[in-house]
Amino acid sequence: MQKFRKIGVLTSGGDAPGMNAAIRAVTLAAEVNGVDVVAIYDGYQGLMEGNVHDISAKDVSGVIRIGGTFLHSARSPEFMLEEGMQRAIATCKKHGIDGIVAIGGDGTFRGATDLTLRGIPCIGIPGTIDNDVTASDSTIGYDTALKTTVTMIDCLRDTCESHARCNVVEVMGRHAGYIALESAIATGAEAVIIKEIPHDEDAIIKRIADLKANGKRSFIIVVSEGLGNYGETLAPKIEAFTGVETRFARFAHVVRGGVPTVADRVMATQMGAKAVELLLAGKSNLVVCKRNGKIVSEEIRYALTVDRMFKGKLKDGDLDTFSEEQIESMKALCELRTKEIRRLYDLVDKVAK
Ligand code: F6P
Repeated sequence: MQKFRKIGVLTSGGDAPGMNAAIRAVTLAAEVNGVDVVAIYDGYQGLMEGNVHDISAKDVSGVIRIGGTFLHSARSPEFMLEEGMQRAIATCKKHGIDGIVAIGGDGTFRGATDLTLRGIPCIGIPGTIDNDVTASDSTIGYDTALKTTVTMIDCLRDTCESHARCNVVEVMGRHAGYIALESAIATGAEAVIIKEIPHDEDAIIKRIADLKANGKRSFIIVVSEGLGNYGETLAPKIEAFTGVETRFARFAHVVRGGVPTVADRVMATQMGAKAVELLLAGKSNLVVCKRNGKIVSEEIRYALTVDRMFKGKLKDGDLDTFSEEQIESMKALCELRTKEIRRLYDLVDKVAK
């Protein structure tokens, strides 16, 4: 087994509150085990460019409560090319980096697996506000983004109630409607619209008209970002058909920032410590996941494939190297997520009165 002397840590893709807590946990857990840590700034871009600096406990003091990522983040198309990958490997060799903990979403995990296959052991940690890592019940940043989204919708509800208005709200989540679903439930929204489940626009508009006829003054319709510009086009239709003055709001990146919640800090700390434990045990090419309350790990290739399966994007040959048992467990996981989303969606309708 390889003797670890130095671990690199990086964040990549969209930032998420709680990433700093994960970086801190990696740094401290490594130090406890007598392993040095280097901070890789600007994600894989920084790894290619050699933007790498030693860090220790003092550098992560206090970061647990700060949003964003102090290692900064970047999306790096160049890293996907072999030449970029070789530059990254050269940086690892130069700085004596024996393994990397990469915090981010699916793009980050793809980079981690590519590096592992070229001799740099990597472990991924799911950090994305979208909660769209199928293999994990939750991702770092989701809880905070949800809390911020709910706070902002509550504010809109106040003004809608004062003015007898409707507000269509677009919330983040490119491929996943979790933020929309749970924020809709938590704010008592009159309807939620997500990419994963077809909706009946006429029925939603009629619901608003009926509720208005029953004396209701304020209406919130939560629309997931995954539907493109749909929310903005829906608002004038609601106004035209119901006579309720309707506004549109897009929260966008605002909900990617802010002080991480307790849940995000705790999970990020657990995941960071687990990632170090895995690397030091000689494991690699894994992503740390939360499943049924436990911190576990999955092969990255499994996590990426089950993601594609869930999104209906499997390519020919994707399943060829997996056992029957693994394929069955992927299908079960996809079914679980589908039911989870359906249950949340139906709950919004059940209590929309
Ligand atoms: O990190 C996830 C996410 O915030 C998505 O919800 C959103 O679609 C995307 O990132 C935005 O990406 P960018 O920061 O590149 O605009």
